[in-house]
This record gives sequence, C-alpha cells and structure tokens, in this order.
Amino acid sequence: MAHISVSPATAAGHRVSPSPRPFSFLYQRNTVPSSIGAVGLRSWSRRASPAASVRAATNSNQAAAEAGTIVNPNEVPVLSFSQAAERLNAFQDSGARNQSYMAMYSSIFGGITTDPSAMVIPIDDHMVHRGHGVFDTAAIMDGHLYELEQHLDRFLRSALMAKIPLPFDRSTVRSILIQTVRASKCTQGSLRYWLSAGPGDFLLSSSGCTNSAFYAIVIESQSLQVPTGCKVVTSSIPIKSPQFAVMKSVNYLPNALTKMEGEENGSFTGIWLDDEGFVAEGSNMNVGFVTKGKELLMPNFDKILSGCTAKRVLTLAEQLVADGRLSGIISRNVSVQEGKAADEMMLIGSGILVKPVVQWDDQIIGSGKEGPIAQALYDLILEDMKSGPPSVRIPVPY
Ligand SMILES: Cc1ncc(COP(=O)(O)O)c(C=O)c1O
Repeated sequence: MAHISVSPATAAGHRVSPSPRPFSFLYQRNTVPSSIGAVGLRSWSRRASPAASVRAATNSNQAAAEAGTIVNPNEVPVLSFSQAAERLNAFQDSGARNQSYMAMYSSIFGGITTDPSAMVIPIDDHMVHRGHGVFDTAAIMDGHLYELEQHLDRFLRSALMAKIPLPFDRSTVRSILIQTVRASKCTQGSLRYWLSAGPGDFLLSSSGCTNSAFYAIVIESQSLQVPTGCKVVTSSIPIKSPQFAVMKSVNYLPNALTKMEGEENGSFTGIWLDDEGFVAEGSNMNVGFVTKGKELLMPNFDKILSGCTAKRVLTLAEQLVADGRLSGIISRNVSVQEGKAADEMMLIGSGILVKPVVQWDDQIIGSGKEGPIAQALYDLILEDMKSGPPSVRIPVPY
C-alpha cells in the first residue's frame, strides 16, 4: 500500500517517522495530558513506545481507535502537516474503508495520486459545505470505459444547470479521466468524477470561489451483478423537483434516504412517484416494465434523471423487437396501477445494469419470478459492455 510521502521534519523541528503506524497507537497518544500542549505532545509521541501505548489501551479505547474516533475529545492534538499525513496513512491502514481506491485526479494539486491517503478535497470546497457540485460515472470493463461520452454529455449538462464553469474544455476533461484510469492500472471497476464550484470561502454564493475544481477517482471492483429478483417499496421521501431531478448534482440526500427506507423495509430500494402520481424512478436507477402486450415501457425522462443505461437498454431492446420477444418499445407516463399490473418490472442503472423486480409493495409482479425480458436485457447490456461498438467502448491505453 502506498503512503503519503512527507518531510520527516515537523514545524517545531522534531523528527517524526513518515512510516505508517498502527492506528490504535496513534490514537492512544491522545491520552497525553492537555497541559503538555502541542510541542510537548510531539516530544511525548517520540518517547512513547507503541507497545507500551497499546498495552495501556483499554478495550473501549481500542474499539474507539479502530473505529477511527478520537479517544479523549478533551485532548485533541494539534498536528503538523506531516503528522496529519501520518494519521491519514494510519486511517487508511486501519481498514475503515472497504473499497479499493486505485487512483485519484485533483485539479487542486493538478495531478494523479495512487495513494489513497492523499485522496482528499479541501473543506472550503463549495461542493463540501453547500452541495454545489455535480458528478457522473463510467464503468470500467475489461480495460475499456463504457459509455464515457454519454456520461460526459450528461456531466456537462449538469454543470451548465448548476452554473459551474468547466476548468478545462471537454477534450481535456476526457483526457484527464482516461489518464487517471491508465494510472490506476484498473481494468474492472468504476470511474467517478466531480465538478465543483471549488474552494474559496464558506459563503453561500460561489462568487468567492476563484476556480472550479475537478476530481476523479477509480474504484476497483471485480464483482459482476447477478440479476436476481428483488422487492421495492413506494418511497415516502419527497421526490426532487424536476429542475433538480434531471441534474446529477451531489444533493443526493433524498436518494440516500429513499434507498435506506427501501432497505429498512426489506426491499432493494424505494420507488418515487412524480407530482402527478406517475411512476418516476428509483433512488439511483431508472424503472422499466414489460406490459401485458409485450411492450417495453419506460417513464419519460422529463422529470427524472436521463439514465445512460436506460437509454442504451432502449436501443438494445430493438433486437428483442426484431426477434419477436417484444412487440414494441415506448416511453410515456406510467400509472402505479399499470406498473403493478405489468408482466415484468425492472430497475436499470449503471450500478446494477438490469435487475428484475418481483414484488412492489404488497403486489407480486407477473409470475413473481425473474422475467425473461429483464434477463435478456441484462445479457444484452453486459455483452455491449464487453464487445459493443466504439461509440460506447473506449480502450484505456495502459
Ligand atoms: C436518480 C438516478 N436515476 C437514474 C440513474 C441511472 O443512471 P445511469 O444509468 O446513467 O447510471 C441514476 C444513476 O446515476 C440516478 O442517480
């Protein structure tokens, strides 16, 4: 595992080891009396033996340290940059994160790092304290970026709606993303990226933020979703108004609460209805149906996020019309009654591809088993990710 490389000299001239230490040891050092002060703490930290500190730790302190919490809030240390970096390394080593972050680009430091400890953003970034940022994703499959152009189109539309100027032109953004994936050496996983109004101050308007900021991260993941049937519930969390629902901003609290409400009810996610009571979308996925007349039916995208996966599914589904498995493909308003009476229901999004829904609230959908069209659409999109045309697959030049 890589670590932040810092100068071993602290501001006070004491030398601290830049090498990682057990997280519990670092946090145990917080037990030094507050009267010693910051400089004293540095001296003390040099004297303390890790073994002695660990031995002295109580079980609860140990648990708190492992959870990444400060053991004694009245004894908060003041850290130099190198000491803070050392603790960031220790946090990384503690295993508190359960994903593999392979590379991050930040326009703040104008480069790519493969050190997870350095994958941080400024706290005065408008995206952090005001939610003034937009984001998007792209899957990495077999060393190719899937639907990057389509996701980038949406990213730029979101940026325009959020009044965030691009720090670079589109081709530079695209090139940075590809270079970040190349630096990550990751061939299976996902790319996530954010455009923010940038750091500057803590005020509401972004007029004090001199430059917008661009961040990207590559997350490795080997898992391929198996399209098993799931249950969904109608969400009680208010849907975002169309102006905000069509934009992929970082304001995802309603989405997170909808997903959690679904999980709390033994379901995969919650389903939103729009202001007229028609089916809208899921927490972070679109919804599709197969009608009794064998049409693939999806709600219009005018009040919800225009899903890149759902749009691709609409195109790929033409093959099922051609071979007679579907009678047609249509986007229009879908009532709850019609949705619940459908032969098949499915969730569609880049995180899940196509996931069959077998129960919505108390209503069993169709036969109550995974439907053949959802399975066929899953197979088609997976095949497209593995061997689709260049318009949806960009090779990463590792
Ligand atoms: C609210 C919402 N709807 C739909 C989707 C599906 O979009 P995509 O297929 O581009 O992942 C997402 C995922 O980003 C989402 O957050």
